[in-house]
Amino acid sequence: MKGIILAGGAGSRLYPASLPISKILLPVYDKPMIYYPITTLLLAGIRDILIITNASDIQNFEKVLGSGEQIGVKFSYMVQDVPRGIADSFLIAEKFINNEPCALILGDNIFHGFGFSSMLKRVGQKTQGATVFGYAVNDPHRFGVVEFDENNRAISIEEKPKNPRSNYAVTGLYFYDKNVAEYAKTLKPSQRGELEITDLNNIYLKNKQLDVEILGRGFAWLDTGTFESLLQAGNFIKSMEVNTGMKIACIEEVAWRMGYISTLELSDLAKKYNNGYGEYIEKIIQANANKLNRNAVV
Ligand code: G1P
Repeated sequence: MKGIILAGGAGSRLYPASLPISKILLPVYDKPMIYYPITTLLLAGIRDILIITNASDIQNFEKVLGSGEQIGVKFSYMVQDVPRGIADSFLIAEKFINNEPCALILGDNIFHGFGFSSMLKRVGQKTQGATVFGYAVNDPHRFGVVEFDENNRAISIEEKPKNPRSNYAVTGLYFYDKNVAEYAKTLKPSQRGELEITDLNNIYLKNKQLDVEILGRGFAWLDTGTFESLLQAGNFIKSMEVNTGMKIACIEEVAWRMGYISTLELSDLAKKYNNGYGEYIEKIIQANANKLNRNAVV
């Protein structure tokens, strides 16, 4: 399965902080924002990842992530010059997708919760249809909203409805089968001039090929779109990390636990960071050697 991270857009709600650099590279506590969506894709077993961003930001993404070889994955980069909508990703990435199943995650979406790894592993193995993730929110009219029947099957998805039929938002993580680029080509721009991901999901829904996984109570889907929510997300990550002694979305650790790099390679990566981040990686290597972290679920 291929993976795409959509990291375009001006990020103007975070100006001046995001004027010189993509919002997706701003820190969420102790690491760049993009580490979180990368982790989500890695946990789904995806190792071939395309990052779609603005031309002026590509160099900065490369500086942070390089080719991905150091963590046993492959990162490539493509440009979205005009924000033509989320579903435009599949037109830009058609060659990259190469008729394979593909996951897409928005670069500013942070997911964290118990059981997420096994859910991603399961969904990442599907080759037919599409899967989206529903999450109960206070303000559903800001999102794509999914309505369910009594058997918890999705019956409608509406983009930013005035009168939402449920309080379940469709989050910014989507899994599709190999038909996604073909379906994306049939979409017409919406009133706001975008190829809507909701329209694409509705094609799968009409074909009875859309699964909705519910991210339940206790799960965190964090927003980073405003100064307030960015700081709240950082504080959430900090308090989880300080309480548990485990980092969230340390991509080096995730790659190692997924078996993409060896302990020796991980230890070399730790040496790049003369700070708490590097010390953390050393600590998990040590704990593993002493069999102290049997329960460490990423
Ligand atoms: C987009 C999608 C919407 C989805 C949301 C998740 O909204 O159009 O369906 O619920 O992402 O963050 P936008 O960010 O374009 O307003």
